[in-house]
Amino acid sequence: MNVPFNRVEATPHMVEAVTRSLSSGHWSGDGTFTAQVLEKLHQLMPEPLLLLTTSASQALEMAVVLAGIKAGDEVILPSYTYASCANAVLSAGGLPVFAAVSQETLCLAPESVERLMSPSVKAIMPVHYGGVPAEMDLLMTLCRERGLTLIEDAAQAIGSSWKGRALGTLGDFGAISFHDTKNVTSGEGGLLLVGADRKDLWEQAQILHQKGTDRLQFLQGHRDRYEWVGQGVSASPSELLMALLLPQLEAVEAINQRRLEIVGRYESVMKPLEISRNLILSHSKVSKGGNGHLFFLRFKDAGNAAAFMAFMAARGIDVRTHYQPLHASPQGRGFRHDPVLHSVGDRDLMKCVVRLPMSHHLKDEEIDYVCEVLKDALIHCHTRL
Ligand SMILES: Cc1ncc(COP(=O)(O)O)c(C=O)c1O
Repeated sequence: MNVPFNRVEATPHMVEAVTRSLSSGHWSGDGTFTAQVLEKLHQLMPEPLLLLTTSASQALEMAVVLAGIKAGDEVILPSYTYASCANAVLSAGGLPVFAAVSQETLCLAPESVERLMSPSVKAIMPVHYGGVPAEMDLLMTLCRERGLTLIEDAAQAIGSSWKGRALGTLGDFGAISFHDTKNVTSGEGGLLLVGADRKDLWEQAQILHQKGTDRLQFLQGHRDRYEWVGQGVSASPSELLMALLLPQLEAVEAINQRRLEIVGRYESVMKPLEISRNLILSHSKVSKGGNGHLFFLRFKDAGNAAAFMAFMAARGIDVRTHYQPLHASPQGRGFRHDPVLHSVGDRDLMKCVVRLPMSHHLKDEEIDYVCEVLKDALIHCHTRL
């Protein structure tokens, strides 16, 4: 049997919605599907201002502009993340500073953030890796005490929460992705969240989102025409994409539940297996508030991770590593970073993290098969020790 790493599938509801949007004649952004998507998102995240974008990368860039990051300002973010986080900082002339991640969750480690503090640091950008919350208590306290802006990269975290609050809504700004690797997807797409405590920036955010114009006021009937009033970007996603997204958002609880069920299945293979403790430093768990975005295994040793991947691939199971740490990437080498990142464990993170197949579209028999092979693969790797 072959099991893909991810599966993207159109349901009849999605086909019907996209067909309706096609025949509506309104293919650009800000139409009725966009309004319905925003309404659904507001049910999940009632407090912040929500602005749909064409990617989380773009939402992060907008957040950095709204945070007032200027040339020479530093923003601390995990080295273990996607390049978009650092690109967003650079786009405003800021400097990314790379921090370590905690072993358990692979999310930004607060003690590393503390080590990197300097008068130039203006913001912290934690990533909720795999849709599991970063250590928000400590990070929020740090930001409050030092007057720093908190930008949450919740790209993978639609429907996740921390102490009952949706991820992406805890900081000054948040970004969520609807890329087709995510739990709900419009192919490409994103969301910018501007926190309830930053209402002072809502008007600027809406102008930024509308190509620097007050068009939103016009659309809402408050003006008889609109004009260029500030800095802007072109961010509204097409109605066709919002039609694709809407039925998935309506099913987001069920989608996340199914993914968490799969996380639970994989976890149940690991738990009783004494040998996995010799091989693996940490792995995903069914955590409270998570959305089952991914399942990772962090091997102690890169050789065993490679042997594990080869074993799975030979049996038709597509498994993947993840981010190359940014401080070790060609574009990231010149920036300030935590010296801890030079330790073997952090340096080899990319080679040691392996993700298992994950999609709510995976069938029970596919998951059964992955679980069976996972157990054999761990036993195989253990014999190499
Ligand atoms: C942590 C993180 N941030 C940002 C992004 C960028 O998202 P998008 O593709 O929507 O721009 C990704 C993409 O996978 C991601 O994993």
